[in-house]
Amino acid sequence: MQAEAERAGEAYEGARVLDVGSGVKPYFPFFEPYASEFVSVDIANPAADLEGAVEDLPVPDGSFDVVICNQVLEHCADPAQAVRELRRVVAPGGRVLASTHGVQVYHPAPDDLWRWTHAGLERLFAQNGDWRSVTVTPSSGTTACVGMLISIYVEQAAKRARLRPLGRVVIAGVNRAARGIDARSELLRSTRPGTIHANYHVVAEA
Ligand SMILES: C[S@@+](CC[C@H](N)C(=O)[O-])C[C@H]1O[C@@H](n2cnc3c(N)ncnc32)[C@H](O)[C@@H]1O
Repeated sequence: MQAEAERAGEAYEGARVLDVGSGVKPYFPFFEPYASEFVSVDIANPAADLEGAVEDLPVPDGSFDVVICNQVLEHCADPAQAVRELRRVVAPGGRVLASTHGVQVYHPAPDDLWRWTHAGLERLFAQNGDWRSVTVTPSSGTTACVGMLISIYVEQAAKRARLRPLGRVVIAGVNRAARGIDARSELLRSTRPGTIHANYHVVAEA
């Protein structure tokens, strides 16, 4: 997101940025130096500038250069309609930056409804907008995904056993080992058959 913010600074004279399903607005600090406008929209979130669902955004057509929609699609009732709305509100020449899960534990916010493969996400975007390009990239490798799942349950077990500091050491070791294994294997970082990924990043160019 830091790199995307810097890119927006070069590409636009004061980028107009919309953050959909903004939560605590974690990306605002990245875009603040480059944005003429940073509008957050969310459901039931008093901290957001606008109240609205991704499937029915309360903003005009083509009104933002960068539209962020991170970790939201898995929670929304109608992902196809959500992508159509993201396409509607992004300006010509603009970019939609979306991310969502391949593999993750159930985590309602307020619902948790969907998971994707890279191919499913490519299809979801391609079928619901006339994009110049759609790129889907895994955020990390297969071992990192397995390590993330192990770490979630190690943390829970350590919490129950009142051994959280020990849990943290184990988790740090798991993550370090996973990163090292993925770094040595192009196959494990790829989207070839047999791989799994915790998260995917979508860049869709209008
Ligand atoms: C896991 S949080 C992600 C928050 C933030 N985007 C981030 O990356 O940290 C999921 C967010 O999606 C919002 N959300 C859930 N369903 C939504 C919907 N249908 N339309 C818009 N936002 C939604 C939630 O209110 C919450 O803020």
